Amino acid sequence: MPTRSQSTAWDPARYLRYADQRGRPFQDLLGRVPAEQPRRVADLGCGPGNVTALLCRRWPQAAVVGVDSSAEMIEAATAGAEEELTASGRLSFERGDVREWQPAEPVDVLITNATLQWVPGHLGLLPSLLGRVAPGGWFAMGVPGNFGAPSHTLLADLQRDSRWANQITGEQFRPTSHEPAEYLRALTEAGAEAEVWETTYYYVLPGVNGVLDFVSSTALRPVLTELGGPGTDAAHAFTEAYADALRTAYPPEMLGGRTVQVLPYRRLFAIAHVPA
Ligand SMILES: C[S@@+](CC[C@H](N)C(=O)[O-])C[C@H]1O[C@@H](n2cnc3c(N)ncnc32)[C@H](O)[C@@H]1O
Repeated sequence: MPTRSQSTAWDPARYLRYADQRGRPFQDLLGRVPAEQPRRVADLGCGPGNVTALLCRRWPQAAVVGVDSSAEMIEAATAGAEEELTASGRLSFERGDVREWQPAEPVDVLITNATLQWVPGHLGLLPSLLGRVAPGGWFAMGVPGNFGAPSHTLLADLQRDSRWANQITGEQFRPTSHEPAEYLRALTEAGAEAEVWETTYYYVLPGVNGVLDFVSSTALRPVLTELGGPGTDAAHAFTEAYADALRTAYPPEMLGGRTVQVLPYRRLFAIAHVPA
C-alpha cells in the first residue's frame, strides 16, 4: 500500500539534473562522520544511488546498502551502480521504507540525507533510527531548512489561489523539517551525543527559470500530482504562474557571462554518536 509520503512518483533523471548541487550537502555531511572502519553502512532514502557510492569510496572495507521506497529510484540506483562494487557485494540497493526497514544486524553508520522531510512526524522516528545503529556507531542526517523561503511560501500561496484551490486537497504529503535545536534535543533525549549545524548554499541555476527547474523534481511534484499530473492544462497553468512568481523573488541576473538565478538554500544537519 503506498503511503502518503510515497505516493507521488519520483523521476530519477530529473532529480539527477542537479546532481552536483544536490550531492554537495551529502558530501559535507559525510565529511563530518568520524567513523574510521565501519563494516556495515546504510543510506536510507538513497535516491538514484549516486551519493551512496561515495560511502564505498570513503570506507572501502564496508558493506553499503542503499534503501529507498521508490521503485523508480531503486531501479535507477541498481542500473547506475558500478558493477565492481555490486559484484563484490560492497554495494547493494533494496526497496524499503525508512520507517520500517531494519538491518539484519545493527549498522555502524546510518546516513539519511534529504529524505526525512518527506516522512510525516519524522522527529518521532529518530529514536528508532538510532536503535538500528550498533553501540559506538554513528547516525548522520540532513534535511532542507528552507520551507520558509520564497521558493516554498510562493508555492503555498499559489495553492490557495481560487484558480486551483478546489483541486488541491493537500492529500499528497508536503515536505517539512524542524529547527536544528529540535533535532539536537530529540537525538540527545534518545541517548546519543549529538551535534547539529546549518549551512546556506547559494545555488547558481542556469536560465531565467532555473529555480523552477530545480524544485520541479522535489517540492512541486506533490502539487502537480494533485492537479492531475505534469501534463494537464491545470498543471501547466499552475507552473506558469509559479515561474512568474519565482522570477520576481529570484530575479534572473548576469553572472560570469550567463543568465542565472541564484537560490539561497538552507540545509540542516545532525550527527549523533551512539554510546559504546
Ligand atoms: C530528495 S531524494 C534524496 C536522495 C539522496 N539521499 C540524496 O542525498 O541526494 C529523497 C528520497 O527519499 C525517498 N523517500 C521518501 N520517503 C521515503 C520513505 N518513507 N522511505 C524510504 N525512502 C523515502 C524518495 O523516494 C527519494 O528517493
